Amino acid sequence: MNIKGLRRGVMTVNPYVPGKTIEEVKREKGLKEVIKLGSNENAYAPFPGALEAMQQELTRLNCYPDITFVEIKELLSKRYGLTVQHFAISHGAEGMLQNIGKCFIEDGDEVIIPHPTYGLYSEISKLMGARVIETPLNDKYVIDLEAIKKALTPKTKLIWLCNPNNPTGTIFDKNDFNDLLGQLPDNTWIILDEAYAEFAERTKLPEIIEAVQKGKSVIAIRTFSKAFGLAGARIGYAISSPEMITVIDTVSEPFNANRVGLAGATATLKKDHEYYQQSLKTILNDRKRVISELSSLGFEVIPSETNFVFFSTPYDCQELANFLLEYGIIVRPCSSWGLPNSIRVTIGTTDECNKFISTLKHILTKYYESSVVSI
Ligand SMILES: Cc1ncc(COP(=O)(O)O)c(C=O)c1O
Repeated sequence: MNIKGLRRGVMTVNPYVPGKTIEEVKREKGLKEVIKLGSNENAYAPFPGALEAMQQELTRLNCYPDITFVEIKELLSKRYGLTVQHFAISHGAEGMLQNIGKCFIEDGDEVIIPHPTYGLYSEISKLMGARVIETPLNDKYVIDLEAIKKALTPKTKLIWLCNPNNPTGTIFDKNDFNDLLGQLPDNTWIILDEAYAEFAERTKLPEIIEAVQKGKSVIAIRTFSKAFGLAGARIGYAISSPEMITVIDTVSEPFNANRVGLAGATATLKKDHEYYQQSLKTILNDRKRVISELSSLGFEVIPSETNFVFFSTPYDCQELANFLLEYGIIVRPCSSWGLPNSIRVTIGTTDECNKFISTLKHILTKYYESSVVSI
């Protein structure tokens, strides 16, 4: 690279590789119908209340948003039984992850990141000058908290945990999490990314409210992008102690969320409860069905606590994903995580799930000469 003067961290960052968009695939393949099951969005949203509120908000876009974010914070505080001071708002969960990197990481710090997991933790950490220590998942594709404990050193600044984990869809044992939280060195914080928490069985998730109230070194991150169906509106938030929230807000860019996104998120919480519940119920039913169908095809399917399903095949996943693309179905091959035989597929609408399964069966017969595989 010819540009001089860049920070060393900048040279270590890999560009984010997003899933293919519907428009891209329509153009490339000359298709009229394309189904996107590659980015874990909610195909049933935006819900009607959110849509109306966002449309109305357009006329106010000449003005900056309310910098206190008080309306959305009040709704969140009621939802969680905490105070408004326990919440920071951001431009998507991604924005919050960036803020946290800025708050904590100095050159030479160590951060622990399970592998495979959501890719941004590593890129943010490297950008800030951290040394990334990777710990493998266990043989059930679950984040191994014992391995993380063993990797702790006095230099460990952050432990990035994705629960449920992307791309595997698994969650760890909450008792093991409490153990880890109780054993953290003084300067070490756990960043608990719960982007998919709403799809998980609530009783299996760590009691984050209790941990925050006890002043534990943990920041939970949630988003309106997944279960609440507002990925394009970019609203995320952090839950932590009021002291930590003040620090995050100080470091963040001032107008850290946009008016349209805030209007959508607020209306979703205020007006769309039934639509939200109904979409969740349908997605969880279809998740069960997709898992069962994939299992009956002989694939190794990992139990999911998310709106996607992770499965392994005997085939090259990039090739299989390319075949699906020919039929207008976008899935996420997991080769970029070092998993050349695995695929992550989002639970879209019921019709989209049916189309995915029937097309997959067709492809297996046509290209792999088998509708039932064995691995
Ligand atoms: C685990 C995880 N965290 C964070 C994000 C980013 O969410 P947002 O759209 O709120 O920035 C994603 C998006 O795919 C994700 O999978």
